[in-house]
Amino acid sequence: MSPTMHQDGSPCPAGPLVRVAGLVKRYRQESIVVEALAGIDLEVAGGEFLALVGPSGSGKTTLLNLIGCLDTPTAGQVWIDGRSVERLSRRELARLRLYRIGFIFQEYNLIPVLTALENVEYVMLLQGVPARERRSRAREMLAEVGLAGMEQRRPAQLSGGQQQRVAVARAIVSRPAIVLADEPTANLDSVSGAALLDLMRELNARYGVTFLFSTHDPMVMARARRIVRLHDGRIVADEAGGARETTEETGEDSREDAGGQTARP
Ligand SMILES: Nc1ncnc2c1ncn2[C@@H]1O[C@H](COP(=O)(O)OP(=O)(O)OP(=O)(O)O)[C@@H](O)[C@H]1O
Ligand SMILES: [Mg+2]
Repeated sequence: MSPTMHQDGSPCPAGPLVRVAGLVKRYRQESIVVEALAGIDLEVAGGEFLALVGPSGSGKTTLLNLIGCLDTPTAGQVWIDGRSVERLSRRELARLRLYRIGFIFQEYNLIPVLTALENVEYVMLLQGVPARERRSRAREMLAEVGLAGMEQRRPAQLSGGQQQRVAVARAIVSRPAIVLADEPTANLDSVSGAALLDLMRELNARYGVTFLFSTHDPMVMARARRIVRLHDGRIVADEAGGARETTEETGEDSREDAGGQTARP
């Protein structure tokens, strides 16, 4: 990935990858108004590995959805690559989501009728990547996440940890600038969760992909480089995480613990 040019050919300005300012989100339910976000200011630079933490209802999912352009704020703004999201046309927004943002959901959200390989190919299909390249990149990425040999399995034939690895492969293979993950380890046992985080950090280090993820899990927080803490829709702390700056402790063998095969291209 070139630092000055996006994959879709548009220029990459200097400055934060994501910036939000004065972000407010209110949900109205009949006569009751819930203020999910009460004024968030945040900058995320390219290459960060950042955990959003906070009690249930503090606004983590709401913030991820707004940054991912899946929802619109009540007030305030989101900039991605220095461009104000609210000024983009529907088409530009769709393009931004397709090329710049990858999602990993708590429930994996794999397409049940597609194989692991086809699930990973899916976003590239939408991007118009030619079939041969799609297939080879998807194979490579599945090997990268320790799933070589499982390409033809459907989600129901994979464990939770393996399904989440497919979801990671799918989010990364389209070469987004940022991956947004809403509690990616919530449905995993602690060994699979730790292995998933190690994998995400390895991909962060190797490809420079920015990760922004929400979590309740202390093990995940310990692996973050920066922790932003929310409470009642506000940022109450923004501090260095438990992870060292180097990624050397990202054990190359850690994936084997989760039952995956460690295969590298
Ligand atoms: N669609 C909605 N309609 C009404 N209220 C909502 C909606 N979505 C979220 N909320 C409310 O907004 C607040 C923030 O919710 P959000 O899902 O962002 O919290 P969270 O930090 O992700 O919580 P959790 O850790 O439980 O996932 C909560 O009070 C929630 O009830
Ligand atoms: Mg949530």
